[in-house]
Amino acid sequence: MAVVVLISGSGSNLQAIIDATQRGELNIEIKAVISNRSGVKGLQRAADAGIPTETLDHKRFASRPAFDHTLQQHIDHYQPTLLILAGFMRILTTEFVRHYQGRLLNIHPSLLPKYTGLNTHQRAIEAQDSEHGASIHFVTEELDGGPVILQGKVPVKITDTPAQLAERVLQVEHQIYPQVIQWFSKGKIQLVGNHILFDQKPLQSPLNLTMEENREQ
Ligand code: GRF
Repeated sequence: MAVVVLISGSGSNLQAIIDATQRGELNIEIKAVISNRSGVKGLQRAADAGIPTETLDHKRFASRPAFDHTLQQHIDHYQPTLLILAGFMRILTTEFVRHYQGRLLNIHPSLLPKYTGLNTHQRAIEAQDSEHGASIHFVTEELDGGPVILQGKVPVKITDTPAQLAERVLQVEHQIYPQVIQWFSKGKIQLVGNHILFDQKPLQSPLNLTMEENREQ
């Protein structure tokens, strides 16, 4: 299955996907990694794995639609079956999202619908949540609002700083993203309208992975 991954930064989720592919757990080919920021670590990770990379700097475009239009052309050159947002820090236009509807996945560092947007770890700590995590969802026109497929949960410790909590959440992110991509590649998950079918049956609520993070700590 041909895949394109969009990143903006460190690319640790990209690395988890590359690693799962190299271990033979994921039957995908990452055709390209495209970043809107130059010089980021994720581009180096891709290059190290022999994956073609591109940088498309959004600041060089006059408008959001102009950037998204060109980005779409670059992506479609690779004819991906699935487009993966892995720390891609851009709000996408409706046209772009519609073009990839049903084959566009994102990871968001919160237990959606809680904490859409930014600073999710800080907000979970301030709210004194006992549990936090990450969500993999289909992207729809509503920001961080598309139907959630799988969530990974981690405990919040009283002493946690946002950075410590982010680190714990990242560990769970690295487990849930490859899992969902594997399901997608096997045709187990489908977006129909605004709903998910899992093995042809409606998914009433997100699946959960709670977790192997305990094993790693
Ligand atoms: C992750 O926390 C992801 O949930 C969010 O951005 C971060 C990306 O991390 N969307 P990385 O670039 O994969 O290391």
